[in-house]
Amino acid sequence: MKRAGVIGDPVDHSLSPIMHNAAFQELGIHVHYELWPTPADQLMTRVNSVRDENVLGANVTVPHKQSVFDLVDATTATADRVGAVNTIIPIGNGLLGDNTDVYGFTASLRESAAVPQRAVLLLGAGGASRAVLVALGELGVSRIYVANRTEQRARGLVDELGTVATQVLPVGDIPSMLGEIDLMINATSLGWHDDALPLPVDSFGQVEPGTVAMDLTYRDTAFLRAARGAGLRTIDGLGMLIHQGARSFALWTGVEPPVETMRAAVEAERARRGG
Ligand code: ATR
Repeated sequence: MKRAGVIGDPVDHSLSPIMHNAAFQELGIHVHYELWPTPADQLMTRVNSVRDENVLGANVTVPHKQSVFDLVDATTATADRVGAVNTIIPIGNGLLGDNTDVYGFTASLRESAAVPQRAVLLLGAGGASRAVLVALGELGVSRIYVANRTEQRARGLVDELGTVATQVLPVGDIPSMLGEIDLMINATSLGWHDDALPLPVDSFGQVEPGTVAMDLTYRDTAFLRAARGAGLRTIDGLGMLIHQGARSFALWTGVEPPVETMRAAVEAERARRGG
């Protein structure tokens, strides 16, 4: 049986094996998808192991997405733009690095009918914000504000990946533009660690009705709870996870992915883990 897997942090709790194994099983494809916890000093060896003829392909997750960019033989235009690889596709003797997070983010927004028409507030300027900024640029969103605790990091990200529509917003200035936005995105890592919010709690009450709050993590975070409490529509990161995975699956197999099977599998696993 061939193998596939996700290259990630040694304490990775990725839902990817659940999702991909459900898809392989549904389609009768004999591949087993595994967790491949990988410390940084073993990353090159791990990436090279994807060259094995028994490996169908790999995903890459935190904290290796940017490092793997330099370890594959070629990269797609999307991976080049993001500067990070989340999917490795063996082609002939080489490894192609792609980034399906951009597609996953856009597909999640589309299925929730939440593509912004006015302006977006993007909170955070780390790795997770990179694919989001590229996707928002492709969608042609007319105004994108990037706010981050460390403002200098937001500046670097906007200089590198922003379009003319993108500008840095000091965290203290968030209240001044809340009336403009129709989508706010939490791309900070806060939801994984604690209950703090990346913006003042009364912000949620100051946006226009119909504004959507999206969190890239797939937990029910303090950010999502506060948004719901203020009557906003919310989107968690599960849709993005499913769609980036479905795109990877299609690239490895050449087959239409069973998206609803993948969704059912990760929703069940999330419920099993207690949300
Ligand atoms: P990832 O790859 O998941 O985005 P990262 O690159 O470490 O992880 O980025 C984490 C993001 O969460 C950053 O925007 C970070 O802000 P800083 O650049 O100021 O560090 C943000 N973040 C993490 N903890 C935070 C906190 N307690 N308050 C506000 N922002 C926080």
